[in-house]
Amino acid sequence: MDLFDAKGVTGMLTGKVAIVSGGSRGIGRAIVLELARNGADIVFNYLSNRDKAESLCVEARSLGKKCMAYEVDITEYEKVKTMVDETYAEYGRVDIVVNNAGITRDGALATMPLENWSQVINTNLTGAFNLSRAVIIPMMKQRAGTIINISSISGVYGNARQTNYSAAKAGLIGFTKSLAKEVASYGIRVNAIAPGFIETDMTGDLQEAMIKAIPAKRTGKAEEVAALVSFLCSDSGKYMIGDVIEISGGLVI
Ligand code: NAI
Repeated sequence: MDLFDAKGVTGMLTGKVAIVSGGSRGIGRAIVLELARNGADIVFNYLSNRDKAESLCVEARSLGKKCMAYEVDITEYEKVKTMVDETYAEYGRVDIVVNNAGITRDGALATMPLENWSQVINTNLTGAFNLSRAVIIPMMKQRAGTIINISSISGVYGNARQTNYSAAKAGLIGFTKSLAKEVASYGIRVNAIAPGFIETDMTGDLQEAMIKAIPAKRTGKAEEVAALVSFLCSDSGKYMIGDVIEISGGLVI
């Protein structure tokens, strides 16, 4: 790893281009900044908060990196494809894809409206298909790249009142492993990260009792997940293929 410069920028990912879905806040935001700090130019999409997205772009650019933000719904393939096409037109390459955009619509299956099922599957799982599908052919031609899918421990172990979310996140793990086998020979590495409770808007109302159940006695930080992402993207992670890394403060041991 290169030395940090005055802005904390390392050269580890210099010359790389990263697309992060759901980058405007939470874990996605931390990933955008971590990748930029390590030298990557950035494109990210988000659902609605333009102000947050623009200020994040300003922050990434202050690290000396290019940054473009797209208000694009990850469930809409054609718009995702346009974003990817424009990224290639502007930057000439894509090296890193982080499928991070996700939502929850928790509730018991007994009363779950179909809409809550569909929204969660469409965002968390089909969203990852959309972005991966849009980049995979040029990435295969490039014969290099890395795709990281943000799953969840709910997808590995299940969680009551999250059948929709757990199904989507478990689906993402199957997607990760299958795609990893499919494209490893093209020099593309596909991996997943399965976080426990990370402090973001998504987990804003986490109860004290739940935190007590975590051996670390605290929630995780978005930056701690982002650090794993940059490890997986870097040459240090080059033997990781189709792996699912849990980061849960001991919650699932
Ligand atoms: P968050 O709610 O703070 O941020 C979600 C991001 O996804 C936002 O930037 C939002 O704009 C974007 N997004 C949502 N729907 C979208 C759509 N249709 N199109 C485009 N962008 C969309 O959530 P958080 O906590 O940062 O979660 C990020 C990822 O990490 C999600 O996939 C989540 O399931 C996963 N995760 C989070 C955990 C946590 O404890 N916070 C634990 C395990 C996994």
